Amino acid sequence: MKTLIVYATKHEFTKNCVVRLSEKLHGNVDIFNLKEDKDIVVSDYDNVIIGGPIYMGQMIKEVKQFCLNNSEALTREKIGLFVCGMSDSEKITSELNQYFPETLISNATIGIFGGAFVFKNMNFFERLIIKLVSKTNEDMSNYKEKDIDEFAEKMNSESSEEENGNN
Ligand SMILES: Cc1cc2nc3c(=O)[nH]c(=O)nc-3n(C[C@H](O)[C@H](O)[C@H](O)COP(=O)(O)O)c2cc1C
Repeated sequence: MKTLIVYATKHEFTKNCVVRLSEKLHGNVDIFNLKEDKDIVVSDYDNVIIGGPIYMGQMIKEVKQFCLNNSEALTREKIGLFVCGMSDSEKITSELNQYFPETLISNATIGIFGGAFVFKNMNFFERLIIKLVSKTNEDMSNYKEKDIDEFAEKMNSESSEEENGNN
């Protein structure tokens, strides 16, 4: 089984989630950072996992663009979608269709992996916004390791069901 993980990040939180996720998945896993890697062939993989952080109510643009550019090929794949963000999981779940195309969401395994505010990594404007919104200038982390592990388990179990079905 071959799994592709594509993601983008501004401040590395998503990258750390992807590392954890890749350690928990069975089979071969290829990881592509959409800010660096461009030549990605979706059809080479059995499973495709796509995710990234939310900034100002929007999924990071590289992830949005990847979904649009590959919309046709992705409908033929087994899909996992994940979101990183500081909003609570219920809010993110209710807004999923703002982050990913409906056509992908309907057949996907969904993961919400939490987020972090690390002030030293933010630019001036980000720091200003987060100070106003969160009313603090202290770093915060809401890293949902258990949810990453559960997401990986779901991807693994669905793949093994599929393999058994094909035998
Ligand atoms: C300027 C700014 C805006 C953000 N806007 C949102 C938001 O609208 N919703 C949300 O859930 N999280 C929001 N976040 C939190 C990020 O999604 C969180 O920091 C995430 O861990 C960033 O991931 P990254 O380090 O991979 O870039 C925001 C963070 C910053 C700095």
